[in-house]
Amino acid sequence: MTRKLSTAGWGLMAFLSLGIALLSYRYLLPHPPQVGPDIAKNLMRHPWLTVHAGLASTALLVGPFQFISGLRARWPKLHRWMGRIYVAGCLGAGVAGLPLAYGTDAGPIATAGFATLDIIWIAITAQALRLAMTGRYLEHRRWMIRSFALTFAAVTLRLYLPFPPMMGYTFLEGYRAISWIAWVPNLMIVELYLRRSPMPKPVAARA
Ligand code: HEM
Repeated sequence: MTRKLSTAGWGLMAFLSLGIALLSYRYLLPHPPQVGPDIAKNLMRHPWLTVHAGLASTALLVGPFQFISGLRARWPKLHRWMGRIYVAGCLGAGVAGLPLAYGTDAGPIATAGFATLDIIWIAITAQALRLAMTGRYLEHRRWMIRSFALTFAAVTLRLYLPFPPMMGYTFLEGYRAISWIAWVPNLMIVELYLRRSPMPKPVAARA
């Protein structure tokens, strides 16, 4: 039962991630369709939005597959290569996200929300990479779960966008709140999950 639930959860997470990633690749086109009027007004749109959306979409596309334990066990080299692509995507998109956070049309609250997410995203992903490079794989897995919770903010943000107008707020009012709500709960949920499944203690400490 628990296994079925976690497979269904992974399936939903992968479906949403792949959907948003594939849709977001449209920003690589010379004249991308369906760009919201407020996004088009971002002061730093050229070239940062293209760089950010291209790299972040790639991280979102490969990320879900990194959590399949069978794939990791059977093809460790593939896991490593996809991991490198994921990390390069997050770090590159994170750096490109900073000028975008500064340039947003939604004002200082949204700048602060996106910039904070950006800095934490870069730091957590870099920590996960460092742990993999030093062979601390159990800790690496936990930091990668945190990293993907933030990458998944791209999905949660888009799921929440329709709600503020339904509740009588303007797009920009809602967008300011969502620049925080899109990621803080994600991080809290994975933190609760990680607390419920603590790291196994090293053999010496158990004795
Ligand atoms: C998790 C850290 C992320 C941060 C801090 C971040 C930050 C930003 C910022 C500041 C903007 C400009 C918004 C504006 O002008 O108001 C933006 C837009 C965008 N981002 Fe991200 N982003 C992140 C993750 C992602 C991911 C994982 C994707 C992958 C799909 C993505 C895809 C996009 C796209 C497509 C846009 C254009 C806006 C739209 O049409 O919805 N971002 N991002």
